[in-house]
Amino acid sequence: MTREKLRIGLFGYGCVGQGLHDVLNSSKGFKADIVKICVKDHRKKRRIDMSNFTYDKDEILNDPSINLVVELIDDADEAFRIVTTAMKNGKNVVTANKMMVAKHFKELVEMQGKYKVSLLYEASAGASIPIIRNLEEYYDNELLHSLRGILNGTTNYILTKMYNEGIPYAEALKEAQEKGFAESDPTLDVDGWDAKFKLCIITGHAYGLFLNPDEVFHYGIRAISKFDIQYAKEKGFKIKLVPYVGKTNENTITSFVLPRFISADKYLYNVDNEYNGVITEAAFADKQFFSGKGAGGHATGSAVLSDISANSYGYRYEYKKFQQGTVSNYTRNHKLEVYLRYKDEKDRELFGFEEVSEYFSGKFFKYVIGVINLERLYALREQLGQMDVFIVNTGRKTDPPTPPSEG
Ligand code: HSE
Repeated sequence: MTREKLRIGLFGYGCVGQGLHDVLNSSKGFKADIVKICVKDHRKKRRIDMSNFTYDKDEILNDPSINLVVELIDDADEAFRIVTTAMKNGKNVVTANKMMVAKHFKELVEMQGKYKVSLLYEASAGASIPIIRNLEEYYDNELLHSLRGILNGTTNYILTKMYNEGIPYAEALKEAQEKGFAESDPTLDVDGWDAKFKLCIITGHAYGLFLNPDEVFHYGIRAISKFDIQYAKEKGFKIKLVPYVGKTNENTITSFVLPRFISADKYLYNVDNEYNGVITEAAFADKQFFSGKGAGGHATGSAVLSDISANSYGYRYEYKKFQQGTVSNYTRNHKLEVYLRYKDEKDRELFGFEEVSEYFSGKFFKYVIGVINLERLYALREQLGQMDVFIVNTGRKTDPPTPPSEG
């Protein structure tokens, strides 16, 4: 296949934009011409000559000689305007913006067909791990039972530092911000939004459902306390933030984002710091594990470069699972065994535990381990932030069909 000469218009020159620039400059086999870089801050000092930059997005969007737009800004609404205008103007687009893709997934898929352009976003989920293209190309005819993993580098970094070095939460978050892992608004990381957006994108390729992220339950690590870490350590577990999507029957899936206990014999146990890890369980390939850096300018830049290169060969996602249409339903009627650390008995009652296997009441905290319904958690989602509680998925089987107990 012949390569089209790429003339790139780049939006954003932050952590990932600069990472891409470095990766492109060091790449021996691939050359692409960055014609213009559009940024918004006039006062910021840049590390390359100012003649490379523009503050006017139309200079890129209306330039017919630019055939690829690479969008790496962190404002999802502005990113959507840029990306859709570029597509309407007949330009292919590469983006790393998970919030933008997840929120407008269906529309963006339709626009690719309508305007005969390609939108690639490998960097949006799992950064350097090529999970989207794997799902699209390698698993196109696989019966995927489930997919779970660590999809947020910032929370994994925080949890690793708290667990291994006893560093307080706020300090660990600050480090993650300084290293360029966190979102500009780190609430998106610590409350599980970012992991959820990535999970929704992955779900589109794994099962062909373009979920509205609002329909998916997410919970993060903001409320974790030393008691939770102490409990996990005593039992030989680490706590990781683990998004999950899986089948509940032939044509139905469920999904959620929850912290999860991981024992030392499981794949995710040693996925530490900003690394991400993905486990797929499938009928034919059985269990597979992917791991790699999940955040940071160079790791994310490497995935963007891979998309740019794929684009030069005319690659586009075919959304094969969507075309096959085997999965048509989404449910939150799903049982989970969880650990709930709490203070107030009234709070505990709200969770509607169906079975309780362990209970502890001490001077400083109480916990209960038992089975609840995801539907109930979803109904409580607005209240959880005001309660003095922390929830962890034990990962243990309830009655089938349930998520597998492997970590
Ligand atoms: N804030 C994100 C993370 C960046 O920590 O994973 C990579 O998507």
